[in-house]
Amino acid sequence: MATLTVDDVTLLGPGCGEQACGETGDGRMLEPEEIVEDLIAFLQPKHLAGKKVLITAGPTFEAIDPVRGITNLSSGKMGFAVARAAREAGAEVTLVCGPVSQPTPRGVTRIDVTGALEMHAAVMVRAAAQDVFVGVAAVADYRPQAAAEHKIKKDGSAAPTITLVQNPDILAEVAALPNPPLCVGFAAESQNLAEYAQKKRLAKKIPLIVGNLIQHGFGGEDNTLVLFDETGQTPLQPGPKSELARTLVSHIARQLDRR
Ligand code: C5P
Repeated sequence: MATLTVDDVTLLGPGCGEQACGETGDGRMLEPEEIVEDLIAFLQPKHLAGKKVLITAGPTFEAIDPVRGITNLSSGKMGFAVARAAREAGAEVTLVCGPVSQPTPRGVTRIDVTGALEMHAAVMVRAAAQDVFVGVAAVADYRPQAAAEHKIKKDGSAAPTITLVQNPDILAEVAALPNPPLCVGFAAESQNLAEYAQKKRLAKKIPLIVGNLIQHGFGGEDNTLVLFDETGQTPLQPGPKSELARTLVSHIARQLDRR
């Protein structure tokens, strides 16, 4: 392996796990899906070689009591596709994600969180060291002020009142750092996409926001995205989230070069 590496041969694997000889450890053939993923990655242009990219994905879950909470229908697919595409483009990628059931893209460091405060903490300790921050997560705007320690019981009296408090805006806080990474936001809207997306971009003081109409994106494999920056809007060809993520990553790489 050392000789091959010196000869500039790219090695895939080995995989780790149970061996035919009965031992466990390095030495397995990679799973076929892993080989395919590595081959696809190998063939992508390395727009982000050596760059550090931090991404949030999925919903957050804001606890009401030990078994209940407030969440949303974000599947995490778009954020995971952006993480995979950034990794394919050569970046060192960290993905902070809320509760989702997506497989971790190969080579991506994944940090699982639950609520917005936890996501905020996981992002803020890492953000200053990044070249790019992409907030794809559908972070809850509000959380219950305090989660009940025990399950709330239906005892025949009046329905309980849940007092909500506002969550920190993770993306706006990262963008306000003294020397911020290139910050990219997402705006999922059900109407007036261009107006709301540009307003959001200006309010959060970020150079680029990616708009999508939620009727097109939530949960599915395909999406329709429009990029909004200071020059106006660029609609991307509708298609699979994986393809859109690659186009977005090359757009981000161009913005990074212009910085
Ligand atoms: O403000 P709004 O939620 O509509 O903006 C969406 C963008 O802001 C997304 O990029 C999302 O990840 C990010 N965001 C955040 N923290 C929040 C709310 C949104 O990072 N508390």
